[in-house]
Parts: sequence; structure tokens; C-alpha cells
Amino acid sequence: MRLAIGSDHAGYDLKAEVIELFDELGVEYKDMGTYVNESVDYPDFAHRVAHAVSTGEYEKGILICGTGIGMSIAANKIKGIRAALCHDVFSARVTRQHNNSNVLTIGARVIGSDLAIEIIKTWLGADFEGGRHARRVNKITAIEEGEYASE
Ligand code: RB5
Repeated sequence: MRLAIGSDHAGYDLKAEVIELFDELGVEYKDMGTYVNESVDYPDFAHRVAHAVSTGEYEKGILICGTGIGMSIAANKIKGIRAALCHDVFSARVTRQHNNSNVLTIGARVIGSDLAIEIIKTWLGADFEGGRHARRVNKITAIEEGEYASE
């Protein structure tokens, strides 16, 4: 699986831990920054990762900032992106199964790294269930494309 990961300064240390884990597990990823632990603007990295996912260059993306909220708001502005902010394992699993989320966002100032890593492993390991969930995700796409017809 082709995976892109990015963070701002608040997510820098957690991103480094996640990357260490990916290296241990042999997960293929592209680190899209930030590369130095200095103050940066999270939308720059949200755009970089989410754009790469929206074009299909990468299948999934992970974005880490202080709360995960800014990354989520910014990433969801990009067409085709379904970014999910998750701070628990249940949501991480169900957002893959039901929402087919293609970007995961995490707040490094909200949860510890052990839980963040469990969330990432769960999110990466869960599959979209399709069926009635596909109908609902298609409605999200229709809203995005201005083609949604209310019932
Ligand atoms: C940076 O201070 C902080 O605002 C950012 O990491 C994030 O939490 C924004 O949503």
C-alpha cells in the first residue's frame, strides 16, 4: 500500500515514532514533512498529503498536528478526501468500514503515542464494507460535486 504521512511541528515527534514503526514493520510510506521541528503552518502539510491522495499517487494519508482538527478541516477541503479525526480505536476501525476514510488525522497533544500507534494500525488494517455504506459515501461525493439531490 502506498501511504503518505505528514505533520506540523506539534505532530513532529509522533510522526517520527510512527515512521520508526513503519520502518520496523516494513510499511512503505512517503514522509511529506515537516522535516524540522520548527513552527510551520499545518494547512501546508494537509494540502501536500491530501492532494497526493486525491490524485491517486498515494492510497492513504496520515496527518498529525496538535489537535488533529486543523489537519482534518484542511484535508477535507480537497476533492475526494474523506479525512477522519480519530482518538480511539473503535472510531478508527469503523471510519474505514463505514466511511471509507482515506486520510487519518491525529492530535499529538490529545493522546499518547501508544494509543496513536494502535489507532494507526487499526485504521490501516480495516477495510471498507461497501453495501449500504457505499450508498452513503456516494452521497457525500454527490454533495462535494454539487450533484446531491435531496430526497
Ligand atoms: C499548532 O500550534 C496547532 O494549532 C496545530 O498543531 C493544530 O492543533 C491545529 O489544529
